[in-house]
Amino acid sequence: MTIRTVGVLGCGLMGSGIAQVSAVAGYDVIVRDLDQGLLARGRAAIEGSLAKFVEKGKLEAAARDAALRRLRSTTALEELQGCDLIIEAVTEDLELKTKLWTSLDQLCPEEALFASNTSSLSIISMARVTKRPDRFLGLHFFNPVPLMPLVEVVRTVATAPEPLAAAMDFVGRLGKQPIAAKDSAGFIVNLLLIPYLLDAVRAVERGVASVPDIDAGMKLGCGHPMGPLTLLDFVGLDTSLKVGEILYEEFREPRYAPPPLLKRMVLAGWFGKKSGKGFYDYSVDPPGVTPL
Ligand code: 3HC
Repeated sequence: MTIRTVGVLGCGLMGSGIAQVSAVAGYDVIVRDLDQGLLARGRAAIEGSLAKFVEKGKLEAAARDAALRRLRSTTALEELQGCDLIIEAVTEDLELKTKLWTSLDQLCPEEALFASNTSSLSIISMARVTKRPDRFLGLHFFNPVPLMPLVEVVRTVATAPEPLAAAMDFVGRLGKQPIAAKDSAGFIVNLLLIPYLLDAVRAVERGVASVPDIDAGMKLGCGHPMGPLTLLDFVGLDTSLKVGEILYEEFREPRYAPPPLLKRMVLAGWFGKKSGKGFYDYSVDPPGVTPL
């Protein structure tokens, strides 16, 4: 199967990144979100990111302009009906996702490939509402999408070999490394990453060390690009909590259970960098440490 046009559902952090890398790779892209404000914010993020690549000489200005020309946005779901591949990157809400997939299944021809960028929900729980579970899989990108070189390609018990091969090929054409994972909670990366991040919160709870020292420990001692608490703020405390809850629900092992401090911070509306506050306070430059 040939993929020429990619539809992206959701123009947030992940959706805009997926749209960007697809357009740069030469695909025609249609991004759909609920209103023009969200679409404009996503477009601005894409333009900002592309400008950085051009500034650094990693992308020609002409290639940026061509990518931007290949990128269309819409609020109408119907406009995605001609896409060969649809990648969904909306909020981690199963009801919302299944509603969208049910509508798209009716709109799109049966050969179109459907993929979800969910980080934790089971792919089969979405595939089951469509008439194409054999052409439904997971494409799990990492934040920030334009920089992170990995995509997990997730097959369910029902995914057929040909769509899987097409998805692997698509990821390669984006210049990213695909890795094959089964439809198991957390796939590969979050299964290993989330308990580590939750342990860092438990270390804060126990007063093992300060937030900056825990971060410095893993950054300088283990060569990680970000310490775990900085990474939690970066990924989003709400997202990390949600993934932890889903992993705990699935495996019932204490290491996946979100620690109370994380729950309290999310209840306070501290979602990390995107909300301006998490383990660090981003209202000041450089960010300060949040008193806990
Ligand atoms: N587009 C283009 N360029 C960008 C960019 C973007 N969106 N974001 C940053 N850059 C550029 C910066 O301009 C900078 O350029 P320079 O080196 O020429 O100055 C360069 O990238 C490095 O950025 P920074 O100096 O701001 O910061 P870092 O050196 O720390 O690099 C990072 C940023 C690549 C994000 C690095 O810190 C990193 O790899 N962090 C870990 C990220 C990670 O683990 N992501 C996975 C999260 S888990 C996930 O997503 C799964 C989900 O399901 C939960």
